Amino acid sequence: MNDQASTLRLVTSNDQADRATSPQTSNQMKTRSYTQSIAISGGKGGIGKSNLSVNLAIELGALGKEVALLDADLGLANADLLCGVTPKHHLGHVVAGWKELDEISIYLSSNVRLLPGGSGVSKLANLSVDNGSDLLEKLKDLEESIDYLLIDTAAGVADNVMGMLSAAGDVIIIATPEPTSIVDAYATIKVILQKAESKPIHIVVNNVVGVGDAEQVFEQIDQVVRKFLNHRVKFLGMIPTDPNLPEAVREQTPIVRYAPQSPASRAIRLIAKQLHSQESTELLTPSEKAKSFWNRLNQNHN
Ligand SMILES: Nc1ncnc2c1ncn2[C@@H]1O[C@H](COP(=O)(O)OP(=O)(O)OP(=O)(O)O)[C@@H](O)[C@H]1O
Ligand SMILES: [Mg+2]
Repeated sequence: MNDQASTLRLVTSNDQADRATSPQTSNQMKTRSYTQSIAISGGKGGIGKSNLSVNLAIELGALGKEVALLDADLGLANADLLCGVTPKHHLGHVVAGWKELDEISIYLSSNVRLLPGGSGVSKLANLSVDNGSDLLEKLKDLEESIDYLLIDTAAGVADNVMGMLSAAGDVIIIATPEPTSIVDAYATIKVILQKAESKPIHIVVNNVVGVGDAEQVFEQIDQVVRKFLNHRVKFLGMIPTDPNLPEAVREQTPIVRYAPQSPASRAIRLIAKQLHSQESTELLTPSEKAKSFWNRLNQNHN
C-alpha cells in the first residue's frame, strides 16, 4: 500500500502532488498573528492520538490554515502509515545537517505538511542546541510561517514525551470511557501541570458510544483535576466509535478522506472548527506567544 498511487491519493491534484518535491516556501497562507503549537497526548497507548493528529491537521488545512504535523512518536512513528506515505528522511537528518526542512516535509495537502520526527526530536531535546544556531533558526522560521504546529506524541509520560508536552503551547488529552484511560489521562495532566502549571489542557473523548459517554468522561476528569490539581480542563470534543476508522487505517487513508461523511470524520471536523474558534492562547501575553515550541523544547535541557 505504500506505493506511489496511495501517496498520490493524499493530494487532490497533480499540482499539489508536485509540492511533495517542490516544497512551499512562502508564508502567504498564514492567517494568524502567531503559531499555536498543540501536542496530542493521553497517557495510554492505542487511544486514537495519531488518527486525531493526522485528520485534525487535514481539517485545519481545509479551514484555510497553514499546518505542520510533527510525528514525534519516537518508538512507533505511524502518522506516515496512516497517510500511506513512506518518509525517506526525518528531522534527525536535519539535525545532522544532511537535509533541509523542506526536503523532509511531506505535503498531505497544499497547506498541510507532515514532518517525520525520527530521532530528531529527542536529539533536539537532549543536545541543547545553542540559541541562535542555524538549526534552531530554521525550525523557528518554519514555525513562524504556519498557523498550527500539531505534535503527535508517544504514549506514556517518559521524559521526552513530557518535554514535548511542556514545550507545546496547548495540550490535547485524549481519553476514552475505559477507566484505565481516564486514570492515565489524569496522571498525564498531573505531570504536565507539575512542569507547566498554567498549560491550557483540552479534552477529547474518543470511542464514544452513547451521548452521555463524553460528558461523563469529561466530568470525571474535570472533577479530579479541579479537586486535586486546582486547574480547569476544557472540553474540546468527542469522537464516536466508528467502524470506518479501522477500515481507513487499513487502507492507509486518513478517515476524513476515506469516509468524509462518516460519524468520526464529522466529529473531527467539529473539533477543528472548535479549536479554530477557541482562543485560549490569545490570553497569553505577547512575550509568551512569541516563545517557540523548538526553543522551549531545547531550553528544557539547557
Ligand atoms: N473512534 C474510533 N472508532 C473506531 N476505532 C478507533 C477509534 N479511535 C481509534 N480506533 C482504533 O484504534 C487504533 C489506534 O489508533 P491510533 O493509532 O490513532 O492510536 P494512538 O493513540 O496513536 O496509538 P499509539 O499509542 O500506539 O501511538 C486505530 O487504528 C483504530 O483501529
Ligand atoms: Mg500513535
